[in-house]
Order: sequence, then C-alpha cells, then structure tokens
Amino acid sequence: MADRLSNKRIFITGAAQGIGLAIAKACLNEGASVFLVDKDGDRLKKRVIDIEADPARIGWFEADITDKTAIQHAVTAARKQFGSINALINNAGVNVFHEPLETSDEEWQRCFDVNLKGAWNCSKLLLPEMIEQGGGVILNIASTHSFTIIPHTFPYPVAKHALLGMTKSLGLEYASKGVRVNALAPGYVETRIAIEYWHSFPDPDKAKAETLALHPGGKIATPEEIAMAAVFLISDECPFINAACLTADGGLSMQQHPL
Ligand SMILES: NC(=O)c1ccc[n+]([C@@H]2O[C@H](COP(=O)([O-])OP(=O)(O)OC[C@H]3O[C@@H](n4cnc5c(N)ncnc54)[C@H](O)[C@@H]3O)[C@@H](O)[C@H]2O)c1
Repeated sequence: MADRLSNKRIFITGAAQGIGLAIAKACLNEGASVFLVDKDGDRLKKRVIDIEADPARIGWFEADITDKTAIQHAVTAARKQFGSINALINNAGVNVFHEPLETSDEEWQRCFDVNLKGAWNCSKLLLPEMIEQGGGVILNIASTHSFTIIPHTFPYPVAKHALLGMTKSLGLEYASKGVRVNALAPGYVETRIAIEYWHSFPDPDKAKAETLALHPGGKIATPEEIAMAAVFLISDECPFINAACLTADGGLSMQQHPL
C-alpha cells in the first residue's frame, strides 16, 4: 500500500461494479477511506465484504443518485462514519443509446437524471462542506462521448457533454475556495455496460473485435487502468489541475481514422 490518498475521505457513486468498484479498491490501496454508494445494494454489500478492508475505512449505502432524499441519507451516514467528506467521485452512469428521433421523452429524462442530475445532486450536498473545510476534490467520470459523437448513441453524449460543462462551471466557481473539480473521460472500458453494448449487435463477438480494431493499441481499457488515473486526479499530486478533463482512451479520440 502507498499513501497517496491517506488524507482523503471519498464518497464514490456507482461503486458496486465496473469502474466505480475499481476506483474504490485503488483508493483504499492508497490509504483513503471510502464510502460507497450504489442503487444495487445487494451487489454493493457483497463487494464490500469481498474487499476485506479495515471496516473503519470503508462504508456503504444503497441509494439511487436520482433520489435526493436517498442521497441525503447516504451523505449523513458517510459523515457519521468518517466525520466529514473531502472528495466526491461522481461515477454512476447509464448508457441510453437511441437514434435521436426514436428517443422517447422518458428515455431522455432517464439519461439526464442519472448521467447529469445525479452528479449535481451529490455535488450540491457535498460542496458546502468542502468549501467550509477550505478545500476538496470532485471528480466526474465523463466519457469520450463528452466531446465526440457515435451515431445512434443519443442522448448519452448530450448528457456527457453537459457533465463536462458542469465540471468547468463548478471548477471555476469554487477555485478560490480550494475546491478542484475535474473530469476523467474514459474511452471503451471492459465493464458490464460495454459488454451490453456489444450484445446489442446481432454478432457481439464481431462487434467487440471491431471495437478493439478501432484502438491504436489494439485493446480497450481495464477498469483498473481507469482507476489509476482517478487516483492521480483525486490526490494532492495535481493541485493546479482544475476545471480540466483527462482523457484515458488509448489515443482513440485523437485519430482521424483507424490505421
Ligand atoms: N465502460 C465504459 O466503456 C465507459 C466509458 C466511458 C465512460 N464510462 C462511464 O463510467 C461510469 C461507470 O461505468 P461502468 O462502465 O463502470 O458501468 P457499470 O454499469 O459496470 O457500473 C455502473 C454502476 O453504477 C450503478 N448505478 C447506475 N445507475 C445508478 C443510480 N441511478 N444510482 C446509483 N447507482 C447507479 C450501477 O448499479 C452499477 O453498479 C459511468 O458514468 C459511465 O458512463 C464508462
């Protein structure tokens, strides 16, 4: 274990699996205390037991980030366990992929409720405490969909673009209070939502092979590779990185077309 995050008490959403779970483990390894939130309480509880961390440094709560009352209860529980929270990772998100004109109002709303409003719900509850403490860190898990578009994935990229807007807005607004707000934009990461995406095609293996072939390095990220970048952005190693977005996509979004 290193000690890069030993002064951090981190609230992480969507932590029952995938990128959020990998970030939680990486933060624990770096000495942080972590409070994990997910709408899937059963899975979250199992993962917390599997991690076998010092119970004083890990807490969990079942809450849907779109439910402001539930998130308030989660924040209260986190404060009760750790005294205060000085870092927030807005990771919970869902793929909502449609052809634009076939997107129902309900799907539009679901996409924005989880991918944008949920992050704001958590930020709004935790920012006052960070400001009062004289500092804190928020990391929003954005996406390469925050600045590029894949057809038929509407309105997910619209919400992820907005999440980047919120990152910049809050980062500027509270810089003088010592609060840094950044985004981390993964490309393809091998988690459940990526696997479900490939399974939305008639031949999932072919779809996966085509995805890998798009990447300059011929592979997509593991959740652990994304977690390493998250640790850096949450840590005190980058005090002047604020209102910024770090892309972690193996170079995918920089190419004009695949080689
Ligand atoms: N996997 C990728 O390729 C990829 C790429 C770029 C960005 N992202 C982003 O990374 C984040 C994590 O994605 P992942 O791939 O680990 O997904 P995942 O589906 O594996 O995990 C997401 C977790 O969030 C939880 N969750 C979903 N909605 C929630 C809600 N309303 N309230 C509380 N918890 C909720 C789920 O229960 C799940 O445990 C998301 O914001 C996603 O948009 C993923």
